[in-house]
Amino acid sequence: MDEAGTYSAGPDDPGTGREPASPRLVGRKTVLRAALAATAAVPVALAAGPALARTAAASGTTPQLTPSCDDGDDPTPEQMEGPYFKPNSPQRTSLLEPGMPGTSLTVTGYVFGRACLPLSGVLLDFWQADANGAYDNTGFRLRGHQYTDSRGSFTLTTIVPGLYPGRTRHLHVKLQAPGRPVLTTQLYFPNEPRNNTDTIFDPRLLMTVRDGGGGREAAFDFVLDVPQDPGPGPTPPGGTWTVGVSYRADDRVTYAGHAYVCLQAHTAQPGWEPPAVPALWRAA
Ligand SMILES: [Fe+2]
Repeated sequence: MDEAGTYSAGPDDPGTGREPASPRLVGRKTVLRAALAATAAVPVALAAGPALARTAAASGTTPQLTPSCDDGDDPTPEQMEGPYFKPNSPQRTSLLEPGMPGTSLTVTGYVFGRACLPLSGVLLDFWQADANGAYDNTGFRLRGHQYTDSRGSFTLTTIVPGLYPGRTRHLHVKLQAPGRPVLTTQLYFPNEPRNNTDTIFDPRLLMTVRDGGGGREAAFDFVLDVPQDPGPGPTPPGGTWTVGVSYRADDRVTYAGHAYVCLQAHTAQPGWEPPAVPALWRAA
């Protein structure tokens, strides 16, 4: 009994999804990721540079960069659930159990909305095969859910899933932002021979994977179809006007309970409160 028997290639899937798209390796999200990395501790796998750039470098190809949320690009593509999902998985970030065979794997990343802003409190429910390619359909081995933290990041500690007939190596995951629809998808490993023959495989879902930590370290960023106000550059949406902050045109702030839009770049100074300087701010 293998999962592949239940899969069928979608009529719009084979071939078309495998053509490399023009790479955009430094997008707004990459910049945002760098900003996040600069302000707080980040997982090891993310510290070396933009994940998307590493993906291209590691695989030697230019995968289609769907997990790019600038300019209204598509969110992370959906993939079929397959027959082995089970609800009510335990909440845990590590799926490791004593004596579990396999190569350790850490998957780290962020979950973004459509405006490249990180999403906190997003449910990620992972399930996968064991080192021998078998799913636990009676218990919850190698199944677990977790939530993104306040910075929109997640870390999964697990093992590299084994292969089973008909499929290339993959992880399953469901994501759900609060109050939003569930996204069901799968994550793939670069340089797997079966990536070329698995009709479900989608290069847009390739993780960046490298050796490290005594096993493998993977990174992947999700983009959910969650509308977001892109807001101003350096100031979060709804941020309060603050002396010393450098604002750019179109930045939005609040001051004394009112919203304002920046008209020209400047650094805020005492006396330049939005209501007082119509050259710099207009009411939103
Ligand atoms: Fe599977």
